Amino acid sequence: MIPSILPTYCRAPLSFVKGEGIWLIEADGRRFLDLGAGIAVNALGHAHPALVATLTDQANALWHVSNLYQIPQQQVLADKLVAASFADTVFFTNSGAESCELAVKMVRKYGFEQGQPDKVEILTFGGSFHGRSSAGIAAAGSEKMTTGFGPLLPGFVHLPWGDHDAMRAAITDKTVGILVEPVQGEGGIRPLPNVCLKGLRDLCDKHGILLILDEVQCGIGRTGKLFAHEWAGIEPDIMMVAKGIGGGFPLGAVLATEQAASGMTAGTHGSTYGGNPLGCAVGATVMDIVADPDFLAKVNRKAGLLRQKLEELSTAHPGVFESVRGVGLMLGIKCRMSNTEVVNAGYAHQVITVPAADNVIRLLPPLTITEDDIAEAISRLDTTAASLKATWSHSSFPGPGLCPCPDRRQGRNTWTISWISIKPHQTRCVIWLITQNQWKPHARGGPRANRMTNSR
Ligand SMILES: Cc1ncc(COP(=O)(O)O)c(C=O)c1O
Repeated sequence: MIPSILPTYCRAPLSFVKGEGIWLIEADGRRFLDLGAGIAVNALGHAHPALVATLTDQANALWHVSNLYQIPQQQVLADKLVAASFADTVFFTNSGAESCELAVKMVRKYGFEQGQPDKVEILTFGGSFHGRSSAGIAAAGSEKMTTGFGPLLPGFVHLPWGDHDAMRAAITDKTVGILVEPVQGEGGIRPLPNVCLKGLRDLCDKHGILLILDEVQCGIGRTGKLFAHEWAGIEPDIMMVAKGIGGGFPLGAVLATEQAASGMTAGTHGSTYGGNPLGCAVGATVMDIVADPDFLAKVNRKAGLLRQKLEELSTAHPGVFESVRGVGLMLGIKCRMSNTEVVNAGYAHQVITVPAADNVIRLLPPLTITEDDIAEAISRLDTTAASLKATWSHSSFPGPGLCPCPDRRQGRNTWTISWISIKPHQTRCVIWLITQNQWKPHARGGPRANRMTNSR
């Protein structure tokens, strides 16, 4: 029988009842260190006093009013975003997916208004994620997200991630824009090199097309700048924002230059809840805190410390972790073992991380994380990794036929096993032996189904 909640998520057996800063408290009283922050949403941690005060004050005054009327809280937030960015204008949404919908409409309307109604194609890089709306899945284009949901919204061209030459070659007189995430989140914490972002900006300028950046996950201080593209010293024409801007309250936005937004006149777009007083009041407080250069300087300092400690952790557990990547407090650890097994093992040690593609676990802690929290995070991840190694050595060695390693007796004291994802629901084991003080892959087993998989 279908559950009363549509089963589109494969949920962990955890039920949190309270949040305090970086901590989530389970119904049974256990305290979990939250390094996922609701997938980059709780930018200021849980129940930040300034956000609670803002939300409470606004809730006591006015919750909702239609966009048929002036909404002063919206004006305040729009002015802050315009003052702090490349943008001349802002439309408020409630989520990243809605921001994607508007970004796609806006760029196509721009082409139309230029007298080129056939200019509708948007070029994207593989591995991207733009939400689960019809435009979002068509833009990302992956089989996993689109299968069974056809016919898909046409007009998206998918190119290999980071392949600048392919991007250049794909531009035709039908192309209206390029849409990329400066740092892919779901795609496995993959930062586009600054030189690539600059190259994309140049391409757009050369061909008179628009650069659309999806900063839903990497924006709002996550990378140590207010917006991730600032690291490359470029500006987009349109930018999608959500997640961190509401600090946990559903809020999103599309920021644009006057030129890019020129087709979006009265009646061309709307949203009942977008820009409601509650969300915008909270967003304004988030901006006051996160856009402060001192706050961002602290994010960068803490990010440097966390990165260094994670590199040490990864080196200390070569059978579990392979490498660390990312920018600021948007960090990923590529795993040798199955990433979902690492995330699940973390739950036993009361630490929360988030899986992503390319066998990565994501660390997206609140930007307010402290040095003590970082020490606690490393200690819990260390215990998690150690527990996984112990499990492999003593009980989880796969049965005969699965792992045909001829030398496994001989290497008894120096081998370890890791799991690599080969398909979303399948892993393959690899045996590592220490040879000349270095872990080297020695033999690999056949595919097996994951014990638990994640839904995203
Ligand atoms: C880069 C990016 N774009 C868009 C979205 C969709 O946002 P939402 O889930 O709020 O619709 C996400 C969500 O993870 C995202 O990471």
